[in-house]
Amino acid sequence: MIISCSNEKGGTGKTSTTALLGWELANLGYKVLLVDCDPQANLTDLMIKTKSQENTEITIDPSLFALLINNRNLKDGIINIKDNLSLLPAASDMNMFSRWVDKQDLAEKDKVTYLKKALEPIKSDYDFIFLDVSPTMSLTNDNVFMACDWLIIMLQTQQRALLGAKNFLEYLQTNLIDNFDAKVDVLGVLPVLTKGQSRIDNSVLKAAEDEFGQDNLFENVITAMERVKRYDLTGITENNKNVWDKATHSVYTAVAKEMINKLEAK
Ligand SMILES: Nc1ncnc2c1ncn2[C@@H]1O[C@H](COP(=O)(O)OP(=O)(O)OP(=O)(O)O)[C@@H](O)[C@H]1O
Ligand SMILES: [Mg+2]
Repeated sequence: MIISCSNEKGGTGKTSTTALLGWELANLGYKVLLVDCDPQANLTDLMIKTKSQENTEITIDPSLFALLINNRNLKDGIINIKDNLSLLPAASDMNMFSRWVDKQDLAEKDKVTYLKKALEPIKSDYDFIFLDVSPTMSLTNDNVFMACDWLIIMLQTQQRALLGAKNFLEYLQTNLIDNFDAKVDVLGVLPVLTKGQSRIDNSVLKAAEDEFGQDNLFENVITAMERVKRYDLTGITENNKNVWDKATHSVYTAVAKEMINKLEAK
């Protein structure tokens, strides 16, 4: 099953949530692959820092872009991070994918399903494949959404986020579902709380409930945690004696379990 945590805004916790959801699902025994489709390569950095805690040297060769344009099996780029968790890393050359695929002598639909086709040979090797996207609308991101079975819409509890989420869903409907018969569906709207603004948090959550329906909103929310920011520097840590690690992982584990329940109910 292929999933992406997405929205149309930058810096809303897509990459951190993707990494930590993948991490917790791997802990729960599911086989997980994280695919970095963002030329910023934040997910790649985070997971490589995580793996480097074991003092292993890691090189990214070939990059996702190189595999895609040479029609190679994506398996050739996969790096193991820990039990049940692997990474298909990106480098900045992923910047060129949109232009490259657009220039190919392909029908429009084949241009937007290029990544989907490339993922097909490895899809059944994993319980979950997460695709991490950049915050810009592009042919690369269209490729990501066309490849997905499910999207988790990240909703930051800020005034404009609701409109952003609605625009994003409209974009998916008109550009990908209506035009190209995308099979992607929304698994749920996952609230990401903004620190110290509980009044706004609550009013945005209430409005989201009215807009999307209570059933479509995750009950578990992502709270603001300093430890998540620290992981950007240190890599993900999971020391059972550390109260911050424990608190952080318990938030993402709850979301991971709710995600499984939602999938089973579909
Ligand atoms: N739950 C959280 N609590 C506190 N900080 C967080 C949390 N989730 C993410 N962050 C921090 O917020 C920043 C943006 O997060 P992240 O990179 O995951 O967002 P993004 O949506 O992937 O950004 P982009 O759109 O640039 O890809 C990072 O510094 C990250 O450490
Ligand atoms: Mg990101």
